[in-house]
Amino acid sequence: MLKTSMTELFGIKHPIMLAGMNWITEPDLVAAVSNAGGLGILAVARCTPEETREVIRETRKLTDKPFGINQILIGANAKENIQVAIEEQVPVINYSLGKPWFIDQVHAYGGKVVGTIAIAKHAANAAKLGCDALVITGHEAAAHGDAATSLVLIPVVASQVNIPLIAAGGFYDGRGLAAALALGADGVSMGTRFIVTKESNVHENYKELVVKASEQDTLYSHVFDGMNGRVLRTRAAQQMMNKGFPLFEAFKGAKEVKDQMRLSYPQFIGMSLKMLGKEDEGYMPWIMARQAVGTRRHLMAITKGDIDEGILFAGQNVGGINDIPSVNEVIERTVTEAEEVLDKLQKTRV
Ligand SMILES: Cc1cc2nc3c(=O)[nH]c(=O)nc-3n(C[C@H](O)[C@H](O)[C@H](O)COP(=O)(O)O)c2cc1C
Repeated sequence: MLKTSMTELFGIKHPIMLAGMNWITEPDLVAAVSNAGGLGILAVARCTPEETREVIRETRKLTDKPFGINQILIGANAKENIQVAIEEQVPVINYSLGKPWFIDQVHAYGGKVVGTIAIAKHAANAAKLGCDALVITGHEAAAHGDAATSLVLIPVVASQVNIPLIAAGGFYDGRGLAAALALGADGVSMGTRFIVTKESNVHENYKELVVKASEQDTLYSHVFDGMNGRVLRTRAAQQMMNKGFPLFEAFKGAKEVKDQMRLSYPQFIGMSLKMLGKEDEGYMPWIMARQAVGTRRHLMAITKGDIDEGILFAGQNVGGINDIPSVNEVIERTVTEAEEVLDKLQKTRV
């Protein structure tokens, strides 16, 4: 058993978190991770507030263990979804991309707030605001890591903040977990590893492509959804890298955003102009249009298994992911291997 400030804070058995992944970390997968002793995180950015309440309640039917929600704080429904999670007293509220306004409300019912950051300066700010723990995302990660790799980012953040740290980006086994602990983290968050499990709802084509991929088979760019992020090297991803962003698709994407948010054209244009004034906060409608394109292509891959036209967010750790085990197997073998590594390292001391 590994006891860390992460397991203590959340009241969980193992220092392993399921990274929140929009469209993927749905109730079954979340409950499987929590039931196996980790911390399952339900991604609700795709949800309306009503759907958020539904998936929270569905998860509660599947597990009586602690779990959390993940919400990207920019974009539609963020405020409302967070409010629903607070009303439902979800034990852990994990946010990314934005400033949390709800920390006191979550603490009032005994919940914990976990910020996700990829830059050390943001970690210090989030700790000052009152976050209980932080997910620190390295460059290796699927989707949106920044410039610094986990090897550099974890110790830099660990030197600056004094709350539990959960390392994300590149982790998939016990050696990684032991290394994260050595670097100053208190546990790991795994995304790509849990995508490729029996319980994950992702299309088998996606899973098999990850299993076949080497550590060289990812691309990192802003062309996929408007923010720097990492995807598998597929034909569509390579084409987007070579040709730049598909303009026509972006306009379609912008319309999809407008429809999703149930806005009229004047409202959409008004909102866009307002958002343009907040360009530095990443709220630009252009970014939202790009996100819509990314989401569309992402869904083609995860639901239809279209690995030619679809985009598959995945981390560099695809190179070490070679099978499709159950969630329980992933967690048990990660912990066992980490314990073995720590024992072996202990023996190197003379
Ligand atoms: C398909 C996919 C969807 C994601 N969606 C979200 C999301 O909705 N919110 C978020 O904070 N992070 C999201 N992420 C990032 C993950 O939470 C996590 O940081 C990343 O998967 C960790 O890297 P790893 O895949 O190397 O383990 C997503 C990642 C993937 C692969």
